[in-house]
Amino acid sequence: MTLLRDDDLAAAFDHASRSYDALVAANPGYHAHLRRSVRRLGLPGYGAGLRLLDLGCGTGASTAALRSELPAAHITAVDASAGMLERAAAKPWADGVTFVHAPVERLAEAGVTGPFDAVFAAYLLRNVDDPDAVLTTVHDLLAPGGRLAVHEYTLSGRRADRAVWTMVSRGLVQPVASALGDGALYRHLRRSVVDFDTADRFTDRLDAAGFDTVRALPLPGWQTGITHTFVARRPETAR
Ligand SMILES: C[S@@+](CC[C@H](N)C(=O)[O-])C[C@H]1O[C@@H](n2cnc3c(N)ncnc32)[C@H](O)[C@@H]1O
Repeated sequence: MTLLRDDDLAAAFDHASRSYDALVAANPGYHAHLRRSVRRLGLPGYGAGLRLLDLGCGTGASTAALRSELPAAHITAVDASAGMLERAAAKPWADGVTFVHAPVERLAEAGVTGPFDAVFAAYLLRNVDDPDAVLTTVHDLLAPGGRLAVHEYTLSGRRADRAVWTMVSRGLVQPVASALGDGALYRHLRRSVVDFDTADRFTDRLDAAGFDTVRALPLPGWQTGITHTFVARRPETAR
């Protein structure tokens, strides 16, 4: 199958935004895993004085994880889907969260220029046309020493993990999504994970984009070997 990209992907997320929160609530650990990835950034002091960028914020699940772990930080949350972003912005946020409608490929045009102390990207990079270009943008938006956490479906390379992923997505997720009229998006989800980097390959990609202290950390439960947090840092000085 052809993966969805750009406007087609944004339109699919616009439609799926109606049921997105209910679907992720049925995924055990979804919100707890996002919070764990935020803690893995290792940022101090509840985030006081820090500027954070949530790329591909969707309906705000990742934004809520940032808010919960780093309540004193300022968060800029960006998404290409107007439908997803509308739902995020309608939630009761305290001060300190700004939502921006833009594709990650056109952040500067939308006025998102940094520098940021940390960037969080949950379930985004598998969806973009050119992950290396996006990682270069993220690197340049970070302050020297700034931190990145990528929370992403990245298979281990073991056949058993790929089989679990195929079983969960074909057997559980796709039937429900198809009944809701979102079959194409969730077929894209299954295929995009299979086609995307393994955890080792994505670690290499981060190294090649100029990040240092790159680590791939597993997530618990059924997602072990399927989903990882990648933490990395923009070096203090140019390499
Ligand atoms: C699977 S959702 C994840 C949402 C949220 N981060 C979470 O953890 O629940 C992926 C989001 O990335 C957004 N997205 C995909 N490609 C994008 C791009 N090129 N630029 C900005 N957002 C994009 C989609 O619109 C969607 O809302």
